Formats: sequence, structure tokens, C-alpha cells
Amino acid sequence: MARYSHIVGWGMYVPEKVLTNDDLANIVDTSDEWIRTRTGIRERRIVTDPSESTSTLATRAARAALEKAGLSPTALDMIIVATSSPDHLFPATACLVQDALGAVNAGAFDLSAACSGFVYGMAMAHGLIVSGQADTVMVIGAEVLSRLTDWSDRNTCVLFGDGAGAVIMQVSEQPGGFIASDLGADGSGASLLSLPAGGTRLPASEETVRNGMHYIKMDGRAVFRFATRVMAEATRRVVDKAGLTLDDVALIIPHQANSRIIESSVIKQLKYPKERVFMNLDRYGNTSTASIPIALVEAVEQGRVRPGDYVVLVGFGGGLTWAAALIQWGAPKVSEVSRWQRWFWAAWYRVYRTRSAYRRLLRRLFALWFGTRERSEEELERLRRLRKE
Ligand code: ACO
Repeated sequence: MARYSHIVGWGMYVPEKVLTNDDLANIVDTSDEWIRTRTGIRERRIVTDPSESTSTLATRAARAALEKAGLSPTALDMIIVATSSPDHLFPATACLVQDALGAVNAGAFDLSAACSGFVYGMAMAHGLIVSGQADTVMVIGAEVLSRLTDWSDRNTCVLFGDGAGAVIMQVSEQPGGFIASDLGADGSGASLLSLPAGGTRLPASEETVRNGMHYIKMDGRAVFRFATRVMAEATRRVVDKAGLTLDDVALIIPHQANSRIIESSVIKQLKYPKERVFMNLDRYGNTSTASIPIALVEAVEQGRVRPGDYVVLVGFGGGLTWAAALIQWGAPKVSEVSRWQRWFWAAWYRVYRTRSAYRRLLRRLFALWFGTRERSEEELERLRRLRKE
């Protein structure tokens, strides 16, 4: 059987708190007018609850995608979380999502390719599916960049927002789905957009904290120039690889970083009609890896993507990286979820939360037991050595 990979479920989540440009003008020296005209952003969503993090946003988007697909979390073979703001350096945020979903049959890993990460993740999922290593893969882009933002730096704090978007890709005999990709990197530009400290190059210290090295640093103009070039080039290449022309493409969903980048790359350089380019950055700002899946979900919900349509997803980001994918939208069967099913899933997630807590408790008890035994063996060894001496 020929194996194709199709999107069968999609979901998104953004925090409730809206931070407007006027709110930002109260914090740093900026204005609604500057932000709107230089970036196209009007407002963004920000996490305020300390118990929320990238994994909790990702989990909400993942649950929405499962509901849309009418799939149980046990159907997932792999969970890929693309993020630049993971809960921890390790364990992977994907593992926290796997646990929160009760996706007991799934492997899980994080993918770091900044804003291109979601499209990289889709390409990895496609590879797993067509090679027969997995049948059903969840790909999530999720960020809580507000916790890595220097709120006194007007060059960056006006740009970013929090959110998560997810798709489920599944094997199918039906041609179409994920057709082609163009993934690239240019590490010579690594310093143009980075979070300098907290890794092994610059471990956390009093000095790194004092110098604000745990916040996003960016050379905005250089990133802007890179972005306008690669977005157009990657789009052209992925369309070529698929054996299509831009006229065949019904919709382009670009990374929602800055409306001026989208206008000068996709619309001007490619001479692509503006009405066939999806933009929602005015409401969410740049949500990094989450921006493309959130835009895809909204485009689908608004009826901008129809069965059989060719759609290009294209992004760029820190690394430097870029990624484009060409998909042909299938005719996914959207499941109507009854109240009873909602109740069942809520109960499922509660049961798995309890199961996790129980396993943690068991591990602690085992550690106590083995810990005591190991110490007494060490004691015995020391005694033996003492006796020989
Ligand atoms: N409010 C008011 N003035 C500002 C602000 C602000 N928020 N930010 C910068 N300025 C000032 C600058 O200080 C500068 O003043 P000066 O001329 O007196 O020096 C002036 O505005 C123009 O600054 P530029 O940097 O030239 O502004 P530009 O038009 O390039 O816009 C921006 C800046 C929005 C950052 C743009 O360069 C950009 O979008 N770059 C790409 C950034 C991006 O997409 N990053 C995310 C990548 S994805 C990822 O991996 C997370």
C-alpha cells in the first residue's frame, strides 16, 4: 500500500489575557501607531497564571486536535513539540504533553528550529509516516515567549505573544496530504536571534542574570532582511519540488512575524495575490512556532481551505532557519463531539493525571527502599576494606 500523510485533526489555544499596543506604551517608549505601522500587530495574548507554561498550552491545543479528529490519545504513535520556550531544557515538553494526554503508546520529543520548528515537525512526522515507523503523529507548535522577553526592550517586547497550535497527521492510501518540503539553515547567523545564556556555552550565573542574558536578543533589521529573502525563495522551491506553479496554490500561510515581511516577500517578490495570503498577526503577534499552526487552524475554521486545495506553509526563524511545506488539503472527517464524549474525555484526562501521580508516588517509595539497600551495601564494602587494612 502506498503511504501518504494527511492532516486529520487540528486545534489551537491562546491565553485569555489580551495585551494591546496601548498597554505596551505604558511599559516602554513606544506607541500603538509605531507598532501597527512597523509590524501590523495590534494586540497579543499573554499568559498570566503562574501554573500555565508551554506544556499546558500545548496540551490544550493537542486535546482540541484529538477532539476534532475523533481520536483517542492512545492512537498517537509520536508527539513532536516544536518550541523555543520549553518548560525545561530537559525533560522534553513533549513528554509532559504525552503524560497530560495519557498518550501511553506515543514516543515524544522536542524540536528546536525556532519559528520554522512547526514546519520542520510536520516534515519529520511525514517521514515517520511514509517510512512506516508511525501511523499517527501529533505535531505541536507552542510558546510562552512572554517569560523570556525583556519587558524593558522595546525592540523585542512589542513583537511576541503566547499560544499553541497542533495538527494530527495520519497515514492514508489517499494521494495528497503532505507533498513536499524545503528545510534549511544558516548557522552563521546564529547570533542574530538568540537566547544567549542558560545553556552549556553560558551557564546561568549571577553575571548572566545581571546582564539580562536569559532574555531574547535580536538584530531586528538583519533578521528582517534574511526573512524577506528566504520566505520567497523557500516558497518558490517547495512549489517547484511539488511540480506545481504558484497559480496552483490556493493559499499561502506564512509565519506571522511582521506584515511588512509578508508583504515584501510573499506578496511583492512572488507577485502573489494578497487576498490568498493568510494573516492574523494583528491579533496574536509573533507566537514563533505556534504562529503557523494557529493561522492554519483559523484558515480552516474560516473556510479558507477547501478539500483538494494546495496550501503552502512557510516560515523562518532563529538558527537561522527556514522551512516551507506544500500540502494538499484532504477531506478530513470532522467528528461531532457529543456532551457524553466530552465528559468521557475529561474523565480520561483526570484518570491519567491520577495514574501519573500514583506512578510518581511508587517511584519515590522504590527509591526509598533501594536507597537504603544501596547505602548498606556501600557500608559493607567499606567495612570489608577496613578489615583487610
Ligand atoms: N517603538 C518605537 N520605536 C521603536 C521601537 C518600538 N517598539 N522599536 C524600535 N524603534 C525605533 C528604533 O530605535 C529606531 O530608532 P532610530 O532610528 O532612532 O535608531 C527606529 O525605531 C527604527 O528601527 P528599526 O530597527 O530600523 O525598525 P524596523 O522598521 O526595522 O522595525 C522590527 C523593527 C519590527 C523589529 C523589524 O526589524 C522586524 O520585524 N524584524 C524581524 C524580526 C522578527 O521577525 N523576529 C522574529 C523572528 S522569528 C523567531 O525565531 C522568534
